[in-house]
Amino acid sequence: MTRVPHLSARLQGFGTTVFAEMSALAVATGSINLGQGFPDTPGPAEVLDVARAAIGTPYDQYPPGPGHPVLREAIAAHVQRFRGLGYDPADEVLVTAGATEALTAALLALLEPGDEVVLFEPMYDSYAAAVAMAGGVLRPVPLYPPPAGDGGGRWTFDPAELAAAVTPRAKLLLLNTPHNPTGKVFTRAELAAVADLAQGADLLVLTDEVYEHLVFAGSEHLSIATLPGMRERTLVVGSGGKTFSTTGWKIGWVCGPAPLVTAVRTAKQFLTFVNGGPFQPAIAAGLGLPDAYFTGLAADLGRRRDLLVAGLAAAGLPVVSPESTYFATVDVRPVQPDGDGMAFCRSLPARAGVVAVPMVVFYDPADASLGRHLVRFAFCKRDEVLTEAVERLGRMSP
Ligand SMILES: Cc1ncc(COP(=O)(O)O)c(C=O)c1O
Repeated sequence: MTRVPHLSARLQGFGTTVFAEMSALAVATGSINLGQGFPDTPGPAEVLDVARAAIGTPYDQYPPGPGHPVLREAIAAHVQRFRGLGYDPADEVLVTAGATEALTAALLALLEPGDEVVLFEPMYDSYAAAVAMAGGVLRPVPLYPPPAGDGGGRWTFDPAELAAAVTPRAKLLLLNTPHNPTGKVFTRAELAAVADLAQGADLLVLTDEVYEHLVFAGSEHLSIATLPGMRERTLVVGSGGKTFSTTGWKIGWVCGPAPLVTAVRTAKQFLTFVNGGPFQPAIAAGLGLPDAYFTGLAADLGRRRDLLVAGLAAAGLPVVSPESTYFATVDVRPVQPDGDGMAFCRSLPARAGVVAVPMVVFYDPADASLGRHLVRFAFCKRDEVLTEAVERLGRMSP
């Protein structure tokens, strides 16, 4: 690997992301960008209107360090309503600059150099960098796609591999359900196995649940914090970005027992201190929307999932139909005989006028072979955009 000048040893290997490269390629070639996961339609008016009205008021100034009380109360009420978990808005809820800051602040606050973090891979790309910044060590456990031809199957893991990843240096288990990039929703049995291990080895659990409301018919999101004995060792991370189609607002949060949240707040106050004043009451309004909003969001996205998944299959790309999130995973080998997903993505704009991202970037370099042939497409786009993308993929040149 070429060393990046000036960059600390901790961050070598975390150069420019492939998202930047692929998005630039989309612009340069006029391709449809199904790489990055952001919606191309506005969020609910009830949310946007509150933000507009808050600009020009005292909400423009620094919010209180833990977040505006109206938002902390709305987060606590929302977690109670959907997960049945009670958190005290005074000291068990912290508003952050997106889920990303919640995760990074938690890792900086909780890890000593050399502490190990057990997590599943493929993994969301900020995890490895945040663990590295905190001086921690990754212990990745593979998730395996269903066998070829089983597009309705689920990604799974080997419990023995999970157990083997927990060494005496393990401090924290970083979970992500619903899971990006696979679209997997961990089942109760899987979470129970993870919980047993965490309790047996006395691990803290940091669970990233930003896709909690983007779960399709037949699957159900469950938070590991609701399992017996888990609330006291778990930090639950959420975000308004996906739920209200406001990914640029970066309003996230973390809930957990007061001593853990206090530790995260200590790190967080020196990262951003606070952010997004006028967006905080807006996300509070969103969290209080009736159930129909949340079920409607998932149903609408599920329909778009079906549209893209059918199109990918018709284009000769074996695809696993995701249970959740914005993303579908394909195996490129039938159309890219060398099985190189990165090369496939670099050539896809020319071959079809579409951009996707290679899944290899979501794996530890040591495990790159597991994700080499996999590519992720996003379906959080308007119907006409997806329809056009599917038509283009159907005409893909060899
Ligand atoms: C799994 C996962 N966690 C966290 C984030 C980032 O959330 P936020 O924009 O709230 O920082 C994303 C965004 O794509 C994600 O996919």
